Amino acid sequence: MKVILLGPPGAGKGTQAQFITEKYGIPQISTGDMLRSAVKAGTELGLKVKDIMASGGLVSDEIIIALVKERIEQADCSNGFLFDGFPRTIPQAQALVDAGVSIEYVIEIAVDDEQIVSRLSGRRVHENSGRVYHIEHNPPKNEGLDNETQEPLIQREDDKEATIRNRLSIYHNQTKPLVEFYTQLSSTDSAGPSFSTIDGLGGLDEVQTRIVTALS
Ligand code: AP5
Repeated sequence: MKVILLGPPGAGKGTQAQFITEKYGIPQISTGDMLRSAVKAGTELGLKVKDIMASGGLVSDEIIIALVKERIEQADCSNGFLFDGFPRTIPQAQALVDAGVSIEYVIEIAVDDEQIVSRLSGRRVHENSGRVYHIEHNPPKNEGLDNETQEPLIQREDDKEATIRNRLSIYHNQTKPLVEFYTQLSSTDSAGPSFSTIDGLGGLDEVQTRIVTALS
């Protein structure tokens, strides 16, 4: 199964990806997590993208497309994968089509901007695994600590309000047009994906149920 989760920053893509990858036995490919690992490790790629990510801007299509192409060649992707945070621009989506990667499902998780600001300001993450929490909506069992490892959780540098608003503006200008792109592709190409939009508001379980319905 090959799935794309679309949606604004903070829509719950990473949160729901954790559940989908377990249920369907496919790996999560989060370009954001891959880039953050590179920044943390101080690689050449990490040094190149560090400042762009901190400001909430998008990394170049060229870098992202090369990163994803290499990742989907790996053995764990042979039965499919879940893209979380990719594609994010029309050129990225077109690169998948041009490479003959046929996606079966594209699910847009819709959440309004003010809810996003509240969600991201309360988000905490476990840096090594990418596990995501929220101080109110999805708190860890022990405050400030990861459930699995008990290591401290951190707040992402790009989760400050001004940066969140910049990321939202970029989302509306550059990523939202993908809704039209995939709506067209699903109606004009018989091998195109099934496209659906689900409401991202409500409890984590309610959103999960909507995703399972969209995937069936
Ligand atoms: P990336 O890491 O992809 O960030 P993003 O798209 O901005 O998405 P987020 O991780 O912020 O949100 P999410 O939808 O996963 O929400 P989450 O589940 O955490 O990208 C970071 C940066 O990398 C970009 O800005 C860019 O610079 C670069 N980059 C990455 N990919 C790129 C690409 N393809 N092209 C170019 N540049 C790229 O949930 C958010 C919070 O809400 C959590 O606290 C969670 O607990 C809570 N929550 C989740 N669901 C609910 C619910 N139903 N109710 C209440 N709270 C909830």
